[in-house]
Amino acid sequence: MSTPMHEVADGGVDTEHALDTAQEQVRRLITDHPGKIPVYTENGKWHFDDDAWAPGWTGGFLAGLVWIFAERTGEPWWREQAEKYSLLIESRKHDDGTHDLGFLFTPSWGRWHEIAPSARTANVLIEAGRTLAKSYNPAGRYLKTWVDDGSSFIDIMMNVGIIFQAGALSGDKRLTTIATQHSLTSRRFLVRGDASTIHEGWFDPKTGEFLRAATHQGYRSDSCWVRGLTWAIYGFGTAYQWSGDDRFLATAQACADLYIARTGERLIPPNDFDDPHPRLTTEASAASIAAAGLLQLAGQLGPAGNDYQDYARRTLARLSTPEFLGRAAEGWEGIIKKATYHWGNGLGVNESVMWGDYYYVEALHKLSALDDARGHSS
Ligand code: GLY
Repeated sequence: MSTPMHEVADGGVDTEHALDTAQEQVRRLITDHPGKIPVYTENGKWHFDDDAWAPGWTGGFLAGLVWIFAERTGEPWWREQAEKYSLLIESRKHDDGTHDLGFLFTPSWGRWHEIAPSARTANVLIEAGRTLAKSYNPAGRYLKTWVDDGSSFIDIMMNVGIIFQAGALSGDKRLTTIATQHSLTSRRFLVRGDASTIHEGWFDPKTGEFLRAATHQGYRSDSCWVRGLTWAIYGFGTAYQWSGDDRFLATAQACADLYIARTGERLIPPNDFDDPHPRLTTEASAASIAAAGLLQLAGQLGPAGNDYQDYARRTLARLSTPEFLGRAAEGWEGIIKKATYHWGNGLGVNESVMWGDYYYVEALHKLSALDDARGHSS
């Protein structure tokens, strides 16, 4: 296997080489552990299936990775695996005990539908969107989390896309209204005036009154948990993609500008921007998500998004150095190291996490497509 060093001289990244390396890492994962759902690593080895904090939410990322490799290689083996891993989570379309149905179904069945749309793929996406829409609170106009009827997370912005999509596929305007209202509520209460984000908002579920901010994975209620900010960049961009509502684009851009200003030349942010004594200086999964979200923005803005594209390219270049790449040869099973799931609960701290790996690969795949479209050679 070639050396995992994909940075090129101009601060760019050799996307094809980086994708090849990630592909081999995933081939090894699904060959060694068939049918298992990775969550985060422990000393570089995947912890599978159960999540000690949240209802399982990572099953779509492995399927999504496999769909990307099926698309880029055209190989039947990858396609068979992609269908297999998507089918493995299909029953979750009826799971109303989680707000994470977008994480489960967009990378998996969403990609399947993009590559080979059928009534079957459409129906699964519609079912998943309808199920998530059941968690809508009309008094507060928000989608609730698995924590409580009064709780909403910024993360839900990454899930609300499945309701927009279900509305578009089914023609059910109620779904579109729910998705729009939740996005407006998140924009109003979970994004502060400086575009930093609140992890969790608490509402009175009866009256809908917004009560207070809180956090689970961040430093404290008034701080900015960085992964939440990156979910907002990508999630509001996705809400704009489905709705064409400029307010969501403006919010995605404001969050992106803050992210870039606060991360700066480090390119990889900490777990929380406001933690004065972070145990670790890097939370690499937030960088992966940011890169994918910034590339979505770049695609939406055309030439006006070039700075976002350049920042994403430099982020991916940094992630593609030996400091961050897991090396199969040394027994590290994840693709991107130095990520953290839940530092407070001690889960997946300074490890690989499945969404960090997924959005790194998704971002490389997006960058490769944008470069092809713009005739760029890195
Ligand atoms: N559950 C989403 C996250 O940990 O970012």
